[in-house]
Amino acid sequence: MIEKHFGKVAVLMGGWAAEREVSLNSGAAVLEALQAQDIDAHGVDADRNVLTMLKKEKFDRVFNIMHGRGGEDGNIQGALDILQIPYTGCGVMASALSMNKLMTKRIWLGANLPTPAYEVLTADSDFIAIVNKLGLPIMVKPGNEGSSIGMTKVKHPEQLQKAYEHAAQYDSLVLAEQWVSGDEYTITLLGEDILPVIRLEVQSDFYDYEAKYKSDQTKYYCPCGLKDEEEKELQALAKLAFQAVAINGWGRVDVIRDQKGKFCLIEVNTVPGMTDHSLVPMAAEAAGISFEQLVLRILETSI
Ligand SMILES: Nc1ncnc2c1ncn2[C@@H]1O[C@H](COP(=O)(O)OP(=O)(O)OP(=O)(O)O)[C@@H](O)[C@H]1O
Ligand SMILES: [Mg+2]
Repeated sequence: MIEKHFGKVAVLMGGWAAEREVSLNSGAAVLEALQAQDIDAHGVDADRNVLTMLKKEKFDRVFNIMHGRGGEDGNIQGALDILQIPYTGCGVMASALSMNKLMTKRIWLGANLPTPAYEVLTADSDFIAIVNKLGLPIMVKPGNEGSSIGMTKVKHPEQLQKAYEHAAQYDSLVLAEQWVSGDEYTITLLGEDILPVIRLEVQSDFYDYEAKYKSDQTKYYCPCGLKDEEEKELQALAKLAFQAVAINGWGRVDVIRDQKGKFCLIEVNTVPGMTDHSLVPMAAEAAGISFEQLVLRILETSI
């Protein structure tokens, strides 16, 4: 009776963001897992005509797995609200806030949640003054991208401007962030639950595109190696981080623990990767939730 319950489901993937390829991979995995459970699911590679198509094909709901701009930033959410088509994940406001790393940080800081010091970079920035203020190294990142696209670790003062110019190719908003040196963790929200913490270990300077999707050198630990009470502390912090930006349904927050043992919030994703080697499925598995059960639970967030 599951299929009756959900009706005709569009698995919305692809899109026009830089993360298109990643989304197509996530979408294919989700589609296969839904179809394996007899759900009337159809893959939809979203283009600018996606709304007309969804209406014409009489879809009852959307499993949204479009990463990045268009799909993860409130745009598709607002359009689907108008069409009255239910969708997975959070709504317009939480999506828009979470996609924008500057807005996310402002809200976290306003809620007294820890996140690295930062400056907004523009072509006119006094790059040397920013180096003096933040110290080195500095992480430079586009404000609205994912998959580590356009990011540079700046180790020498004269590199900052180049790093800015590189990031600016992807986005008009560019952030310079104080580098946090320490273990990296990621924490998943699924419905009301915070799943087990994963620790990632990379060979490169940071968890870049190569380390995320190509390298077999990246190591994942779940259990993450923290003491029980530390993991609980981190899960509690993650919960606050999600709540602050009004995320519900599902999501993933990235955290680095500095040398003093303090957890620093890096960023949050509202449509995280769902390939069979992505982080959310890994955390789910550690909680005894299979990939098929996971996609079903995410689909339920559309109800
Ligand atoms: N301030 C920082 N200090 C040290 N490393 C950082 C910092 N910010 C980001 N990183 C590293 O860069 C990686 C990518 O950064 P971030 O999560 O902000 O970008 P993203 O492209 O949005 O990621 P995602 O693919 O998770 O959406 C992090 O996983 C971490 O390894
Ligand atoms: Mg990240």
